[in-house]
Amino acid sequence: MDTDVLFTITKENLETGMRGYPVGYCTTSSVHPTKGLYYRGKSIQELAFKEPEEVIYLLYYGKEPSKDELAAFKQELASRAHLSDKVIESIQKLPREGQAMKLLASALLLVGMLEGEQDYEKDCLNLIARIPEVVACVINHHAGWKGEHSSKPELGYMENFVSMLHVPHKREAELVRAMKLFNILHYDHGGGNLSTFVGKAVASGLEDMYGSMASAICALAGPRHGRANQDCLEFVEEVLKEVGENAQISQIEGLLRGKLTKNELIYGFGHAVLRVEDPRATIFYELADKQYKKDPLVKIATYLREVGPKVLAENPKISNPYPNVDAISGVVLTAAGFGYADYIAVLFGMSRAVGIARQIVYERLEARGGKGTPIIRPKYLDASDRSLSG
Ligand code: MLT
Repeated sequence: MDTDVLFTITKENLETGMRGYPVGYCTTSSVHPTKGLYYRGKSIQELAFKEPEEVIYLLYYGKEPSKDELAAFKQELASRAHLSDKVIESIQKLPREGQAMKLLASALLLVGMLEGEQDYEKDCLNLIARIPEVVACVINHHAGWKGEHSSKPELGYMENFVSMLHVPHKREAELVRAMKLFNILHYDHGGGNLSTFVGKAVASGLEDMYGSMASAICALAGPRHGRANQDCLEFVEEVLKEVGENAQISQIEGLLRGKLTKNELIYGFGHAVLRVEDPRATIFYELADKQYKKDPLVKIATYLREVGPKVLAENPKISNPYPNVDAISGVVLTAAGFGYADYIAVLFGMSRAVGIARQIVYERLEARGGKGTPIIRPKYLDASDRSLSG
């Protein structure tokens, strides 16, 4: 039937990162090119300032919790949150060289080896409940902090995370507010973003939740995906260094033009799906404007937001010159007192694990009337035969 034809594949579609190919259904979230992100049909703007546990409940069960359901869910997560001493000690024995994302992937494998239940549903909730503790342990260890690890899940999902973090001169309440927002805005982004797709692909071979998640985290570690937020923060820092705190917007415009002429990269603009300013970025910009207007990095990021689209749109090859979430997420965390630019991708991983884990449960246990999806096995054409029928 014609109406069932979603996409016609021509040679031009090959070797393009499967951009736009429909491959299945995503029940947890969707991304509209001009309206942005929805979790279970609710816009990200409606959800951004709720409690993280409330939004996780929505993603997990597909409905908003009543007051009692939310209280019970918070308890459920808290009761599953503690890592065993063996896991913590094993993480603390891992080498600290290299990117912290490698440490996070290794830590998730360790949790799977020592605490995995080989049950996608139980492991999904356990992983969601435990990941703040895993990430706090990873960051503290990678940063070289040697103090005692203490977790108090009854404080709340992000409250406990921030309390476990060893951040010098921590402004606890401010950091909790920024972390909650960061966490919620990054839980999920449709079914086809690289880390989610990889996690589901690995799970399609019936690898368990933790191995699948470790693979997803490796997929998220690259600078084209999760690590882009760190590169964006570094970019804003570099621009600030170049133009100074008292820069005028015209200087930023000149600097961007200069970079484009020299074919240098401009970070924080464009998106695989979105064709407008990323609504998650808009939410961060609004918070930045309200709370951190005078912060020098915020000032530069705000100028970049203003002139970037104008300058980039002059290039006919650029179809989306608008800021994405990475353009401002790291700047807001830094302004809120998270002085660890190297761990912002890890925070992305902690957040995205929620959506990935839930999508794995869908594909393994619920899709196709409960049969689950088969092993991922796309077709590659024989390179010596350039016709599509091969
Ligand atoms: C995002 O959060 O923007 C994504 O993971 C990137 C994507 O949707 O492909």
